[in-house]
Amino acid sequence: MADLLEGFRYREGHLYCEGIALSDLAADYGTPLYVYSQAVLSDRYERVDRAFAAVPHLICYSLKANGNLSLGRHLARLGAGADVVSGGELYRALKMGIPGSRIVYSSVGKTTDEIAYALRSGILMFNVESAGELEAIDKEAKLLGTRASVALRVNPDVDPGTHPYITTGMKKYKFGIPTEQVMPLYRQAASSANLDPVGIQMHLGSQLVSVAPIVEAAEKLIALVKQLAGEGINLRYLDLGGGMGIRYRDETPEGPDALARLVIPLLQGLNLTLILEPGRFIVGNAGALVARVLYVKDNGTKKFVIVDAAMNDLIRPTLYDAYHAIVPVTERRGSEKVDVVGPICESGDFFAHDRELPPLQAGDLVAIMGAGAYGFSMASNYNARPRAAEVLVNGSSSHLVRRREKYEDLVRAEEME
Ligand code: LLP
Repeated sequence: MADLLEGFRYREGHLYCEGIALSDLAADYGTPLYVYSQAVLSDRYERVDRAFAAVPHLICYSLKANGNLSLGRHLARLGAGADVVSGGELYRALKMGIPGSRIVYSSVGKTTDEIAYALRSGILMFNVESAGELEAIDKEAKLLGTRASVALRVNPDVDPGTHPYITTGMKKYKFGIPTEQVMPLYRQAASSANLDPVGIQMHLGSQLVSVAPIVEAAEKLIALVKQLAGEGINLRYLDLGGGMGIRYRDETPEGPDALARLVIPLLQGLNLTLILEPGRFIVGNAGALVARVLYVKDNGTKKFVIVDAAMNDLIRPTLYDAYHAIVPVTERRGSEKVDVVGPICESGDFFAHDRELPPLQAGDLVAIMGAGAYGFSMASNYNARPRAAEVLVNGSSSHLVRRREKYEDLVRAEEME
């Protein structure tokens, strides 16, 4: 459990994030509350950085996992670049202080406005996902009188063995360009005055517990790099995407060291800078969602623990049937089987079904663990619920890095006719 909770530990019966009791944070900032550990963020970033120290590399933190400005700025200061998938994420990355020269941009549907914005921002490269997009980038670069650096996102058709909703690098999914269509598109890019083919990219899927599929796909990409070099098209970047899994329950994911051990030898003799796009690995276990128990009700068949957080705050259990550990903020003895649910008007609004938890009462606090990635970033205002506050903890100090939304925030963009 200690490992599962990472930056979160019990001290004399109370759950702490680094040097601060979660109950104190809940008292200061209210609930539901996202709490992040800066030490875990740093540790995770540095683990990846150290693993690949032997080769030129750039870690482009995947903003979709958690786009909070303060978290991103912290990673930027450690040297991180960014992987973005929309104009909005590009805007966030630049605000974080991440220079365009360290930003890569993937997405199957970039609009011309987004392409123009990325060109003006001088991004490192577009990860291009179709022939049509390559043409659109070509046109836009010409219009702006600049040259666009591009990588083709290859769909290597390798099964990463994860949830279908978060699998991407297989032919039945919309992502990337099939291997057999890649060469002619590179030739086209190389012959255009407005395009500079600088890299090749892939992303297989998310929450991978084994690195073998990434290595298998990387070999396919490297074969393409060599074939291209044979035609005088010399790429500089090999981008293997994100996907490294974390422990939510009892998984034992292979980490960056295992990946590095297998990937580094493949790079020998090639003049390539390696790019990685980790999201979940960096931020997933750095965050917990703290919620307060509102009511406990027993309907004769089941016992429900109703908390003040809901599927609008953390949708992963609902959407993927994802498991998140739930622990009492103050240690309690005993165990009973309960459903942990939120107040939203949907049966899908749950955090756990038939979970063994110590008996809880109204007023108690619980922490939903592993909520740092795809937690707040997927939050919504469903049921007109203001989004939760976010706090970043560093040792014994805490900073409110996003205030709780107010009712006025809910209607701010609307106009009444
Ligand atoms: N690069 C690209 C092109 C991606 O599409 C993704 C994730 C990443 C990097 C980062 O992957 P990571 O290292 O975090 O696995 N909402 C889902 C996860 C969706 C991931 C989508 N793409 C979840 O909550 O599990």
